[in-house]
Amino acid sequence: MKDKIQDYLKEINETNIDNFTNKIEGIEQFRIKFLGKKGVMNKLFETFKTMPNDQKREMGQLLNQLKTAAQNKIEEFKNYVEEQSDDSGDMDLTMPTDFSEIGSRHVLSVVQNEIIDIFARIGFTVAEAPEIEDDWHIFSALNFPPEHPARDMQDTFFIEKEGKHGDVALRTHTSSVQVRVMEKNQPPIRIIAPGRVFRNEAISARAHCIFHQVEGLYIDKKVSFADLKQTLLYFAKEMFGEDTQIRLRPSYFPFTEPSAEMDISCNICGGKGCNICKHTGWLEILGCGMVDPNVLEASGIDSTQYSGFAFGMGVERMAMLKYQIRDLRLYFENDLRFLKQFEAIL
Ligand code: DAH
Repeated sequence: MKDKIQDYLKEINETNIDNFTNKIEGIEQFRIKFLGKKGVMNKLFETFKTMPNDQKREMGQLLNQLKTAAQNKIEEFKNYVEEQSDDSGDMDLTMPTDFSEIGSRHVLSVVQNEIIDIFARIGFTVAEAPEIEDDWHIFSALNFPPEHPARDMQDTFFIEKEGKHGDVALRTHTSSVQVRVMEKNQPPIRIIAPGRVFRNEAISARAHCIFHQVEGLYIDKKVSFADLKQTLLYFAKEMFGEDTQIRLRPSYFPFTEPSAEMDISCNICGGKGCNICKHTGWLEILGCGMVDPNVLEASGIDSTQYSGFAFGMGVERMAMLKYQIRDLRLYFENDLRFLKQFEAIL
Protein backbone atom coordinates (compact mmCIF):
# COMPACT_ATOMS: atom_id res chain seq x y z
CA MET A 1 0.00 0.00 0.00
CA LYS A 2 2.82 2.37 0.87
CA ASP A 3 4.46 1.74 -2.51
CA LYS A 4 1.19 2.30 -4.28
CA ILE A 5 0.76 5.64 -2.59
CA GLN A 6 4.30 6.64 -3.47
CA ASP A 7 3.63 5.72 -7.11
CA TYR A 8 0.46 7.81 -7.18
CA LEU A 9 2.26 10.75 -5.58
CA LYS A 10 4.89 10.49 -8.26
CA GLU A 11 2.23 10.31 -10.97
CA ILE A 12 0.50 13.41 -9.61
CA ASN A 13 3.75 15.34 -9.44
CA GLU A 14 4.69 14.38 -12.94
CA THR A 15 1.34 15.13 -14.56
CA ASN A 16 1.62 18.25 -16.62
CA ILE A 17 -1.23 20.29 -18.01
CA ASP A 18 0.36 19.96 -21.45
CA ASN A 19 -0.28 16.21 -21.30
CA PHE A 20 -3.93 16.94 -21.93
CA THR A 21 -5.06 17.56 -25.49
CA ASN A 22 -8.31 19.00 -24.24
CA LYS A 23 -7.36 20.76 -21.02
CA ILE A 24 -10.79 21.11 -19.42
CA GLU A 25 -11.65 17.50 -20.25
CA GLY A 26 -8.19 16.35 -19.06
CA ILE A 27 -8.54 18.09 -15.70
CA GLU A 28 -11.94 16.48 -15.18
CA GLN A 29 -10.60 13.02 -16.01
CA PHE A 30 -7.75 13.60 -13.62
CA ARG A 31 -10.17 14.62 -10.87
CA ILE A 32 -12.36 11.56 -11.45
CA LYS A 33 -9.35 9.27 -11.39
CA PHE A 34 -8.13 10.47 -8.00
CA LEU A 35 -11.08 12.03 -6.20
CA GLY A 36 -14.09 10.50 -7.96
CA LYS A 37 -16.49 8.12 -6.20
CA LYS A 38 -14.75 5.08 -7.54
CA GLY A 39 -11.41 6.82 -7.72
CA VAL A 40 -7.99 6.07 -6.27
CA MET A 41 -8.55 7.85 -2.95
CA ASN A 42 -11.77 6.08 -2.10
CA LYS A 43 -10.33 2.71 -3.00
CA LEU A 44 -7.28 3.31 -0.81
CA PHE A 45 -9.51 4.38 2.07
CA GLU A 46 -11.43 1.11 1.72
CA THR A 47 -8.19 -0.84 2.13
CA PHE A 48 -7.14 1.50 4.94
CA LYS A 49 -10.22 0.59 6.96
CA THR A 50 -9.22 -3.08 6.99
CA MET A 51 -5.64 -2.44 8.14
CA PRO A 52 -4.34 -3.34 11.55
CA ASN A 53 -4.51 -0.38 13.94
CA ASP A 54 -0.76 -0.03 14.43
CA GLN A 55 -0.27 0.76 10.74
CA LYS A 56 -3.16 3.19 10.47
CA ARG A 57 -1.34 6.19 11.83
CA GLU A 58 1.39 6.21 9.23
CA MET A 59 -0.94 5.22 6.38
CA GLY A 60 -3.46 7.85 7.41
CA GLN A 61 -0.85 10.54 7.08
CA LEU A 62 0.30 9.26 3.71
CA LEU A 63 -3.25 9.10 2.42
CA ASN A 64 -3.94 12.66 3.48
CA GLN A 65 -0.74 13.74 1.80
CA LEU A 66 -1.88 12.06 -1.43
CA LYS A 67 -5.33 13.62 -1.27
CA THR A 68 -3.92 17.10 -0.71
CA ALA A 69 -1.45 16.60 -3.57
CA ALA A 70 -4.31 15.64 -5.92
CA GLN A 71 -6.46 18.60 -4.81
CA ASN A 72 -3.59 21.07 -5.13
CA LYS A 73 -2.75 19.79 -8.57
CA ILE A 74 -6.33 20.23 -9.76
CA GLU A 75 -6.41 23.74 -8.35
CA GLU A 76 -3.16 24.55 -10.13
CA PHE A 77 -4.51 23.24 -13.46
CA LYS A 78 -7.72 25.23 -13.14
CA ASN A 79 -5.87 28.45 -12.37
CA TYR A 80 -3.69 27.88 -15.36
CA VAL A 81 -6.66 27.38 -17.72
CA GLU A 82 -8.37 30.47 -16.34
CA GLU A 83 -5.32 32.61 -16.89
CA GLN A 84 -4.97 31.35 -20.43
CA SER A 85 -8.53 32.24 -21.35
CA ASP A 86 -8.21 35.71 -19.86
CA ASP A 87 -6.12 36.87 -22.76
CA SER A 88 -7.08 40.54 -22.68
CA GLY A 89 -3.45 41.34 -22.12
CA ASP A 90 -2.56 39.96 -25.55
CA MET A 91 -5.49 41.52 -27.35
CA ASP A 92 -4.68 43.66 -30.37
CA LEU A 93 -6.93 46.65 -29.97
CA THR A 94 -5.96 48.02 -33.37
CA MET A 95 -7.18 44.95 -35.25
CA PRO A 96 -10.18 45.67 -37.55
CA THR A 97 -13.39 44.03 -36.37
CA ASP A 98 -15.47 41.59 -38.36
CA PHE A 99 -17.85 43.48 -40.57
CA SER A 100 -21.22 42.80 -39.00
CA GLU A 101 -24.05 42.96 -41.50
CA ILE A 102 -26.69 45.56 -40.82
CA GLY A 103 -30.23 45.22 -42.04
CA SER A 104 -31.96 47.50 -44.48
CA ARG A 105 -35.42 48.89 -44.99
CA HIS A 106 -37.96 46.87 -46.90
CA VAL A 107 -38.61 48.30 -50.36
CA LEU A 108 -42.28 48.93 -49.49
CA SER A 109 -41.23 50.93 -46.49
CA VAL A 110 -38.76 52.89 -48.61
CA VAL A 111 -41.39 53.74 -51.22
CA GLN A 112 -44.04 54.55 -48.63
CA ASN A 113 -41.66 56.95 -46.89
CA GLU A 114 -40.83 58.55 -50.19
CA ILE A 115 -44.53 59.18 -50.89
CA ILE A 116 -44.96 60.63 -47.39
CA ASP A 117 -41.93 62.90 -47.89
CA ILE A 118 -43.21 64.25 -51.18
CA PHE A 119 -46.55 65.24 -49.69
CA ALA A 120 -45.02 66.48 -46.44
CA ARG A 121 -43.12 69.05 -48.50
CA ILE A 122 -46.41 70.66 -49.52
CA GLY A 123 -47.95 70.64 -46.07
CA PHE A 124 -49.64 67.25 -45.75
CA THR A 125 -49.37 65.51 -42.38
CA VAL A 126 -49.66 61.80 -41.68
CA ALA A 127 -52.90 60.44 -40.22
CA GLU A 128 -53.57 56.95 -38.94
CA ALA A 129 -56.67 54.97 -38.05
CA PRO A 130 -57.49 51.37 -37.09
CA GLU A 131 -56.98 48.42 -39.45
CA ILE A 132 -60.00 46.75 -37.89
CA GLU A 133 -62.90 48.98 -38.75
CA ASP A 134 -66.67 49.10 -38.72
CA ASP A 135 -68.99 49.22 -41.70
CA TRP A 136 -69.62 52.92 -41.20
CA HIS A 137 -66.00 53.99 -41.70
CA ILE A 138 -65.18 51.53 -44.48
CA PHE A 139 -68.38 51.81 -46.49
CA SER A 140 -71.45 53.70 -45.30
CA ALA A 141 -69.89 57.07 -44.55
CA LEU A 142 -68.08 56.81 -47.87
CA ASN A 143 -71.35 56.66 -49.76
CA PHE A 144 -71.23 52.97 -50.69
CA PRO A 145 -74.79 51.89 -51.52
CA PRO A 146 -76.08 48.96 -49.41
CA GLU A 147 -75.85 46.51 -52.29
CA HIS A 148 -72.30 47.43 -53.33
CA PRO A 149 -70.23 44.28 -54.08
CA ALA A 150 -67.37 45.42 -51.79
CA ARG A 151 -69.69 44.79 -48.88
CA ASP A 152 -69.82 41.16 -49.92
CA MET A 153 -67.90 38.53 -47.95
CA GLN A 154 -66.26 37.52 -51.19
CA ASP A 155 -64.27 40.75 -51.18
CA THR A 156 -64.03 41.72 -47.55
CA PHE A 157 -62.75 39.92 -44.46
CA PHE A 158 -65.50 40.33 -41.92
CA ILE A 159 -64.80 39.65 -38.29
CA GLU A 160 -67.21 37.34 -36.53
CA LYS A 161 -68.69 38.52 -33.28
CA GLU A 162 -70.38 35.90 -31.11
CA GLY A 163 -70.58 33.56 -34.10
CA LYS A 164 -72.28 36.14 -36.28
CA HIS A 165 -70.94 38.49 -38.88
CA GLY A 166 -71.15 41.82 -37.17
CA ASP A 167 -70.37 45.00 -38.99
CA VAL A 168 -66.69 44.79 -38.12
CA ALA A 169 -64.16 44.02 -40.85
CA LEU A 170 -60.53 44.45 -41.85
CA ARG A 171 -60.44 47.71 -43.78
CA THR A 172 -60.40 47.19 -47.53
CA HIS A 173 -58.91 50.60 -48.22
CA THR A 174 -57.32 53.52 -46.39
CA SER A 175 -60.24 55.75 -47.41
CA SER A 176 -61.69 54.87 -44.00
CA VAL A 177 -59.03 57.14 -42.48
CA GLN A 178 -60.61 60.10 -44.31
CA VAL A 179 -63.82 59.59 -42.37
CA ARG A 180 -62.04 59.27 -39.03
CA VAL A 181 -60.09 62.47 -39.66
CA MET A 182 -63.12 64.48 -40.82
CA GLU A 183 -65.18 63.34 -37.84
CA LYS A 184 -62.58 64.77 -35.49
CA ASN A 185 -61.33 67.85 -37.36
CA GLN A 186 -62.83 70.78 -39.19
CA PRO A 187 -61.17 72.12 -42.36
CA PRO A 188 -58.60 73.02 -43.41
CA ILE A 189 -57.63 69.34 -43.54
CA ARG A 190 -54.56 68.20 -45.39
CA ILE A 191 -53.55 64.64 -44.60
CA ILE A 192 -52.08 61.54 -46.10
CA ALA A 193 -52.78 58.16 -44.59
CA PRO A 194 -50.41 55.29 -45.31
CA GLY A 195 -51.38 51.85 -44.11
CA ARG A 196 -52.18 48.20 -44.57
CA VAL A 197 -55.38 47.09 -46.22
CA PHE A 198 -56.97 43.67 -46.60
CA ARG A 199 -59.01 42.01 -49.32
CA ASN A 200 -60.31 38.53 -49.75
CA GLU A 201 -58.27 37.72 -52.86
CA ALA A 202 -56.43 34.62 -54.00
CA ILE A 203 -52.70 35.33 -53.90
CA SER A 204 -51.06 35.62 -57.31
CA ALA A 205 -48.42 37.69 -59.09
CA ARG A 206 -50.95 40.50 -59.43
CA ALA A 207 -53.08 40.24 -56.30
CA HIS A 208 -52.53 39.76 -52.59
CA CYS A 209 -54.84 39.66 -49.61
CA ILE A 210 -52.69 42.15 -47.70
CA PHE A 211 -51.25 45.23 -49.32
CA HIS A 212 -50.53 48.89 -48.64
CA GLN A 213 -52.15 52.11 -49.71
CA VAL A 214 -51.56 55.79 -49.23
CA GLU A 215 -54.66 57.91 -49.06
CA GLY A 216 -54.69 61.67 -49.48
CA LEU A 217 -57.34 64.17 -48.43
CA TYR A 218 -57.49 67.93 -48.77
CA ILE A 219 -60.53 69.89 -47.60
CA ASP A 220 -60.84 73.64 -47.45
CA LYS A 221 -62.86 76.50 -48.90
CA LYS A 222 -62.82 76.63 -52.71
CA VAL A 223 -60.71 73.55 -53.33
CA SER A 224 -61.08 72.72 -57.02
CA PHE A 225 -60.32 69.98 -59.49
CA ALA A 226 -57.44 72.13 -60.74
CA ASP A 227 -55.87 71.92 -57.27
CA LEU A 228 -56.18 68.16 -57.41
CA LYS A 229 -54.57 67.99 -60.81
CA GLN A 230 -51.71 70.28 -59.89
CA THR A 231 -51.00 68.41 -56.66
CA LEU A 232 -50.91 65.08 -58.46
CA LEU A 233 -48.71 66.43 -61.25
CA TYR A 234 -46.25 67.64 -58.63
CA PHE A 235 -46.35 64.21 -56.99
CA ALA A 236 -45.81 62.34 -60.27
CA LYS A 237 -42.79 64.48 -61.18
CA GLU A 238 -41.22 64.11 -57.73
CA MET A 239 -41.82 60.38 -57.67
CA PHE A 240 -41.03 59.36 -61.23
CA GLY A 241 -38.92 62.20 -62.62
CA GLU A 242 -39.24 65.73 -63.96
CA ASP A 243 -40.26 64.61 -67.45
CA THR A 244 -43.24 62.62 -66.23
CA GLN A 245 -46.60 63.55 -67.70
CA ILE A 246 -50.00 62.72 -66.27
CA ARG A 247 -53.42 62.11 -67.71
CA LEU A 248 -56.75 61.84 -65.94
CA ARG A 249 -59.45 59.48 -67.18
CA PRO A 250 -63.04 59.71 -65.95
CA SER A 251 -63.90 56.92 -63.54
CA TYR A 252 -66.27 56.08 -60.73
CA PHE A 253 -65.84 55.78 -56.95
CA PRO A 254 -68.76 56.08 -54.54
CA PHE A 255 -66.93 58.63 -52.40
CA THR A 256 -65.84 61.09 -55.10
CA GLU A 257 -67.73 63.06 -57.73
CA PRO A 258 -66.37 63.56 -60.28
CA SER A 259 -63.91 60.66 -60.06
CA ALA A 260 -60.85 59.95 -62.13
CA GLU A 261 -58.03 57.54 -62.58
CA MET A 262 -54.60 58.96 -63.10
CA ASP A 263 -52.02 57.57 -65.51
CA ILE A 264 -48.41 58.62 -65.79
CA SER A 265 -46.36 58.48 -68.97
CA CYS A 266 -44.49 55.18 -68.95
CA ASN A 267 -41.20 55.74 -67.17
CA ILE A 268 -39.67 52.64 -68.76
CA CYS A 269 -40.09 53.48 -72.45
CA GLY A 270 -40.71 57.19 -72.05
CA GLY A 271 -44.14 56.85 -73.64
CA LYS A 272 -43.07 55.02 -76.78
CA GLY A 273 -44.77 51.80 -75.77
CA CYS A 274 -43.31 48.69 -74.12
CA ASN A 275 -44.27 45.50 -72.28
CA ILE A 276 -44.74 47.25 -68.96
CA CYS A 277 -47.24 49.81 -70.28
CA LYS A 278 -48.78 47.22 -72.61
CA HIS A 279 -47.71 49.39 -75.53
CA THR A 280 -50.01 52.24 -74.54
CA GLY A 281 -47.29 54.56 -73.27
CA TRP A 282 -49.28 55.09 -70.05
CA LEU A 283 -49.33 53.46 -66.61
CA GLU A 284 -52.31 53.60 -64.29
CA ILE A 285 -51.19 54.71 -60.84
CA LEU A 286 -54.03 56.00 -58.70
CA GLY A 287 -57.69 56.83 -58.19
CA CYS A 288 -58.86 60.29 -57.22
CA GLY A 289 -61.68 62.79 -57.34
CA MET A 290 -63.55 65.59 -55.62
CA VAL A 291 -64.94 64.40 -52.29
CA ASP A 292 -68.65 63.70 -52.70
CA PRO A 293 -70.76 66.18 -50.67
CA ASN A 294 -72.51 63.18 -49.10
CA VAL A 295 -69.19 62.08 -47.64
CA LEU A 296 -68.47 65.52 -46.20
CA GLU A 297 -71.93 65.68 -44.62
CA ALA A 298 -71.70 62.15 -43.22
CA SER A 299 -68.60 63.21 -41.29
CA GLY A 300 -70.01 66.49 -40.06
CA ILE A 301 -68.49 68.90 -42.56
CA ASP A 302 -70.66 71.55 -44.18
CA SER A 303 -70.60 70.79 -47.91
CA THR A 304 -72.00 74.19 -48.80
CA GLN A 305 -68.91 75.84 -47.35
CA TYR A 306 -66.19 73.36 -48.01
CA SER A 307 -65.00 71.19 -50.84
CA GLY A 308 -62.02 68.94 -51.23
CA PHE A 309 -60.22 66.28 -53.16
CA ALA A 310 -59.06 62.81 -52.30
CA PHE A 311 -56.80 60.23 -53.88
CA GLY A 312 -55.63 56.74 -53.11
CA MET A 313 -52.71 54.73 -54.43
CA GLY A 314 -51.19 51.30 -53.90
CA VAL A 315 -47.67 51.25 -52.46
CA GLU A 316 -46.89 47.85 -54.01
CA ARG A 317 -47.83 49.19 -57.41
CA MET A 318 -45.68 52.31 -56.97
CA ALA A 319 -42.70 50.15 -56.03
CA MET A 320 -43.40 47.83 -58.97
CA LEU A 321 -43.34 50.74 -61.38
CA LYS A 322 -40.32 52.34 -59.83
CA TYR A 323 -38.17 49.24 -59.60
CA GLN A 324 -39.78 47.04 -62.24
CA ILE A 325 -40.86 44.35 -59.84
CA ARG A 326 -43.09 41.90 -61.68
CA ASP A 327 -44.54 39.73 -58.95
CA LEU A 328 -46.34 40.99 -55.84
CA ARG A 329 -45.45 37.88 -53.90
CA LEU A 330 -41.79 38.90 -53.83
CA TYR A 331 -42.62 41.60 -51.30
CA PHE A 332 -43.80 39.13 -48.72
CA GLU A 333 -41.54 36.13 -49.15
CA ASN A 334 -38.55 37.60 -47.33
CA ASP A 335 -36.13 36.15 -49.84
CA LEU A 336 -32.81 37.83 -49.05
CA ARG A 337 -31.77 37.77 -52.70
CA PHE A 338 -34.70 40.08 -53.39
CA LEU A 339 -34.43 42.23 -50.28
CA LYS A 340 -30.69 42.82 -50.65
CA GLN A 341 -31.21 44.56 -53.97
CA PHE A 342 -32.67 47.54 -52.13
CA GLU A 343 -29.96 47.86 -49.50
CA ALA A 344 -28.48 50.95 -51.07
CA ILE A 345 -31.65 53.05 -51.11
CA LEU A 346 -32.75 54.49 -47.83
N1 DAH B 1 -60.15 53.56 -52.10
C1 DAH B 1 -59.85 53.31 -53.50
C2 DAH B 1 -59.39 51.87 -53.65
O1 DAH B 1 -59.10 51.23 -52.69
C3 DAH B 1 -58.78 54.23 -53.96
C4 DAH B 1 -59.24 55.62 -54.06
C5 DAH B 1 -59.82 56.10 -55.21
C6 DAH B 1 -59.12 56.49 -52.99
C7 DAH B 1 -60.27 57.38 -55.34
C8 DAH B 1 -59.58 57.80 -53.09
C9 DAH B 1 -60.16 58.22 -54.28
O2 DAH B 1 -59.48 58.66 -52.09
O3 DAH B 1 -60.57 59.51 -54.37
O4 DAH B 1 -59.34 51.39 -54.74
